[in-house]
Amino acid sequence: LIASTTLTSFASVAMAADVPSPNQYYWPKGMNLAKLRAHDSESDPYGADYYTSYHKKFEQLNLQEVRKDIEKVMLTSQPWWPADYGNYGPFFIRMAWHNAGTYRAIDGRGGEEGAQQRFAQLNDWPDNASLDKAKRLLWPVKKKYGEKLSWGDLIVLTGDVALNQMGFKTLGFVGGRPDDWQSELIYWGPGTTFFPNKSSFQVGQNGTLKHPLAATHMGLIYVNPEGPNGDPDPVKSAAMIRLAFGRMAMNDEETVALIAGGHTFGKAHGAHPNSCLSGPPVANGVEHQGLGWADHCIKGTQTADDASTSGLEGSWSADPIHFTTQYIDNLLNNDWVLGTSPTGAHQWHTKTDDKIAPDPANPNDPSKMRPIMMFTTDIALKTDPVYHKILARWAEHPNEFADAFARAWFKLVVRDMGPKSRYFGSEVPKETFVWQDPINMPAKPINQADVRELRKLIAATGLSDRELIKTAWAAASSHRVTDHRGGANGGRLALMPQNGWAVNDPEELKAVLPKLEQVRDKFNAHSVRKVALADVIVLGGSVGIEDAAQKAGVKIQVPFAPGRGDATQEQTDVNSFNLLEPTADAFRNYYRADADNTPPLNAMVDKADTLGLTIPEMTVLLGGLRTLDINSGHSANGVLTKTPGVLTQDFFTNVLTMDTRWQKVAGQEDLYEGFDRATGQKLWTATDVDLVFGANPELRAAAEVYASDDAKAKFYNDFVKAWTKVMNLDRFDLQR
Ligand code: HEM
Repeated sequence: LIASTTLTSFASVAMAADVPSPNQYYWPKGMNLAKLRAHDSESDPYGADYYTSYHKKFEQLNLQEVRKDIEKVMLTSQPWWPADYGNYGPFFIRMAWHNAGTYRAIDGRGGEEGAQQRFAQLNDWPDNASLDKAKRLLWPVKKKYGEKLSWGDLIVLTGDVALNQMGFKTLGFVGGRPDDWQSELIYWGPGTTFFPNKSSFQVGQNGTLKHPLAATHMGLIYVNPEGPNGDPDPVKSAAMIRLAFGRMAMNDEETVALIAGGHTFGKAHGAHPNSCLSGPPVANGVEHQGLGWADHCIKGTQTADDASTSGLEGSWSADPIHFTTQYIDNLLNNDWVLGTSPTGAHQWHTKTDDKIAPDPANPNDPSKMRPIMMFTTDIALKTDPVYHKILARWAEHPNEFADAFARAWFKLVVRDMGPKSRYFGSEVPKETFVWQDPINMPAKPINQADVRELRKLIAATGLSDRELIKTAWAAASSHRVTDHRGGANGGRLALMPQNGWAVNDPEELKAVLPKLEQVRDKFNAHSVRKVALADVIVLGGSVGIEDAAQKAGVKIQVPFAPGRGDATQEQTDVNSFNLLEPTADAFRNYYRADADNTPPLNAMVDKADTLGLTIPEMTVLLGGLRTLDINSGHSANGVLTKTPGVLTQDFFTNVLTMDTRWQKVAGQEDLYEGFDRATGQKLWTATDVDLVFGANPELRAAAEVYASDDAKAKFYNDFVKAWTKVMNLDRFDLQR
């Protein structure tokens, strides 16, 4: 389990002197549970209920007033970071786009919510160079509205204000993103070097990118503007764009709309070479006050002509602070030639190099006009036949381009917020999109008397506790707090693709779901209030658990909150839902040995993380579920009890006892057998995710709590609490 110490591990991680080092410093392969500790609200300065109460505070805002404040900041150039053309609009759009563009459809991580761009490592990524200044410019607005306006919402609203001020009509603004208070532990890639170091390239020879990564380079939000690993080949660059934007949940049309829309505005900055710049914020002295990339080559008063960020230089349009179709027209109507920026970066210029764009520091001075430019990634859109076709259509039909950009921008900045029920504010667009995973709510929801009747109907189905509990878990545990998708609500367990996922034992589901559907139909046939299948599934879990505890002689009540709805197959985008399929679920002792899958123990922590569980919650749930016998494929692994199907502390007592000797099964990666030390009799089989509760000191400490003789009541209480938490993860209505 824990790798032995190697001297090379000391050399591989550079730690600051005189600070305590995490165990991973000495044993890099050791298990890291830190992610789960982040689910504790103790480090949130607004207190434990901030995450659920933020919305109420946000709704007190007068958005028109906030918009005016942002616009004022946007049009007031500051001497410490002068605005190009007197307008920070393009700079602010880049900030919002980079905050959103970290979103990964595969695991739902990244995105606008939480405003992780404020923290290392995102704040320090080379791709986010200079955006530290954008957030500082906005501080007076943040200060004025404090708790009512999170950074996450402020950044998105600022992008919206910028687009509007420069003449573009967006679909509307959605609020409701509570902030994070610490840097989130996210696996951004295997490398320890950042872009532009060549070894930061994460794409394999055959164009593959390991799941769940989306960025092609460590330290970039998406792709290298100069081409894959600096190779200015537009064809190869198009492949990278398709890969990275696809992982961001964008199709070809959305991808082109975003790039063409974004690069309509602003410019790239490469006044001075990289050697002029100090390190990122995290590497600078305290006197820099959290700002990075200080430019020691600036002589005299800083002007907009001094800015260095990417090292590329120039604008795409002759009118970079207004929404136009110039990006598309310029790209399609010119012959582009490969050249270099003043700092030596690959970029493209027109054959004639006409000086048609304004100077950022002197926009009204005709004598200072400059030529326009394109990146290799822009030329890629012209070179790739599919992208080209889209651009050519929009060149003819500019309204279609504006509409596509508005829709793609909206999706970009709200994609990680989950369903529409999490949107807040007076500017939420009315239109519903399939990527919002819509759900139909019953017009008249059921009440507590109905719940009592439904409990009886469920008990009369003849379904076993195991079947009821396993079905409820399959439905609810598909939720992920990372982008608030999935869960029991919507009843999508009965729809494609979820009903066919291997982890859900489709054949078993085929027998169970019709019986629960009959409960729904029977009830709805005579009642004016209607119940959704989703509610029946979750209530079935409560019925099953209560009965399984009763078999141990313990009377418990599993709280049930009615109020779910069902979705139709048409409302369910199969491809997009397939991304939610678990490749591992330690709670059902399921692990798929895909080449891309992370080892079982990491996968267990990751699953618990996407369910928002703490270490004790993960522990009590996993141990309790083992005794309930709900493993995928009905495997006996880790079912460390003589009474499978009865809710007991047995898993903990049996995993911790010294009476059992464990031995790896020869030739099997992840399988162990437990023998009675005294008799030699084989007692159990188990996997890594079972035995780790005895082997890992921190998990053993938690398991000891639930194995203790005086912890019986605590075990049942904590199990029910953790179970209910998972069942209600997608009940955003209850969290307000
Ligand atoms: C600027 C790369 C897509 C909006 C830039 C810069 C780079 C870059 C290198 C110059 C940064 C600087 O030196 O200041 C790329 C690449 C993209 C991409 C490689 C994808 C292939 C997008 C998208 C948007 C966007 C999707 C928004 C929807 C902007 C804006 C600027 C900019 C507004 C100008 C910022 C300013 O004027 O300060 N981009 N970008 N970009 N990008 Fe992108």
